[in-house]
Formats: sequence, structure tokens, C-alpha cells
Amino acid sequence: MKIVVKIGGSLADDGLEKVIMNVSVATVGNQMVVVHGGGPQINDLSERLGKKPVYVTAPSGFKSRYTDEETRNIAVMAMVGNVNKKIVSLLNLRGVPAVGISGADGPTLIAKRKDKLIVQEGEKKRVLRGDYSGKIDEANGELISLLVSLGYVPVVAPIAMSSDGELVNVDGDRAAAYIAKAINADVLVSVTDVPGLILDGEVVRRLSMNEAEKLVPMIEGGMRKKIFAALEALKIGVPAIVICSGLMENAVVSAIRMESGTVITK
Ligand SMILES: Nc1ncnc2c1ncn2[C@@H]1O[C@H](COP(=O)(O)OP(=O)(O)OP(=O)(O)O)[C@@H](O)[C@H]1O
Ligand SMILES: [Mg+2]
Repeated sequence: MKIVVKIGGSLADDGLEKVIMNVSVATVGNQMVVVHGGGPQINDLSERLGKKPVYVTAPSGFKSRYTDEETRNIAVMAMVGNVNKKIVSLLNLRGVPAVGISGADGPTLIAKRKDKLIVQEGEKKRVLRGDYSGKIDEANGELISLLVSLGYVPVVAPIAMSSDGELVNVDGDRAAAYIAKAINADVLVSVTDVPGLILDGEVVRRLSMNEAEKLVPMIEGGMRKKIFAALEALKIGVPAIVICSGLMENAVVSAIRMESGTVITK
């Protein structure tokens, strides 16, 4: 099977060794590509450099980071420099031949820089310029497929290139969706710090696209973004998305078998 695993930034510190073990077990007999997040690690580095992270709310209610140029540079340092190399070294330590790249290499991820953010502040809307986050337009799977064909496991940081050659910060789950499409993956597994989508205290086991769309207003925070990214993945042609906890025994293997987590299909 061809599998894309997205490792949540929510796991990139304490739980990482456990997650890496789960990923490495799942590489046996499969072709694997890893994509990761890194929100908490960007915040951590930013705070340590004396820059307080800024979040803004869109008129739709979506909260997002305001990524000015300095924050973008911090995001590159935290994700490409730190999180990516940590995952690569832990995989290599377990005998998985990992190669770390960013989405800008190749380039693999091409995005439109947002620049302008519309911010809702109470009753008022305001335009905030100078944002360096991006919306992915397309993924080019050539470099990744080449690495996979040589037996390597590519590990991709969610930094993309804009058409003007600028580096932009992109959402990890969206990056994973576009990469899964570009390499024709059979499944996208999003490992995070919760066992799936939880509603009324229980993990939702299976969802169709229609059902997921209807549930969106009831979901909050990071999971809401994740469900949106899963819907986008299905729309561009990824056959199945499984959201699961990376901390459970055999997490990735059982997710691929669709025996755990929340499975979303068309
Ligand atoms: N209904 C819900 N079910 C499950 N998790 C939920 C729900 N509503 C909100 N969440 C939150 O969503 C979080 C997962 O998304 P989050 O974006 O924080 O993690 P991630 O995608 O793994 O990390 P990153 O975005 O840094 O890569 C959970 O830790 C949980 O707190
Ligand atoms: Mg997330």
C-alpha cells in the first residue's frame, strides 16, 4: 500500500518516540511518506525569541496564526530545522531510511501567499497585511516518488513555495492531503493526540463525506480544521482518511486496516 502519515505537531515532543515506533512498524511492506505539523513548536521557539504568537479570527469564525515575515522565519526554523530533523533522526535510528525535505524542495508544494487577512474584531472587520501563510494550489509528487522508488521514506515539513519564490507556512493536514493525491496514496492517516473525532464522549468510527460536512458546525479547534482538510482530501481524490491517536499500541497499522480511529470516505 501507498500510505501518507501526517504526524501532528501536538505529538512532536513528548509522544514522538511512541509515534515514530508506530510509523516504523507500518513501513514494513508498504510505501510510506510522512508529513508533519508543528504549531506548538513554532509557538515555543517564538516565545523563546521574545515574540508573542498572534492569533486572529476570520469572519467565518476560523482562528489562525498571523504569520508576519519574522514569524514565517521562525516557522521555517522550528519545522524544517527542528521538528523535521527530529523525526528523521528517530526514524533512521529505528532502521527506517528517512530523508527530510520541506514542501519548498522540488518544489513539492506550491501555494498562493495569502498576504491579506480579513480579521473580525467585535463588530468590525479589518484588513491585516504582510501575512506569510499560504493556501496550497498543487503538489508535485516527483521528488517524493523518486525517493520512495529508491526505498527512502520522505519526511515533509509544511512549508511551501509561492509563485514568487517566497516561503510560506501551510497547514500540515492540507499539505498531507495534496501530497497523498500527488502520489496516488491509498490512504492518509492523520495521527494526533486524540483517538479520532469525538462527539458526545465517543469516537466516531466511520463517516461519509456528507455526514462529515453536516457535523462541521459541531466541531471545534484543531479537529475542525482537520475535518475540513479531510473533506478537501476526499474532494481532490484521496480514497480514505483515518484520524487516530499516535500514542496507542500499533496505531498506524490498525488505522491502515481501518480497525481504529475515525475513518472518512466518500
Ligand atoms: N470533537 C473533537 N474531537 C476530537 N478532538 C477535538 C474535538 N474538538 C476539538 N478537538 C481538539 O483538536 C485537537 C487536535 O487538533 P490539533 O490541530 O491540535 O492537533 P494536530 O493536528 O495533531 O497538530 P498540528 O496542527 O500542530 O499538526 C485535539 O487535541 C482536541 O483538543
Ligand atoms: Mg492541526
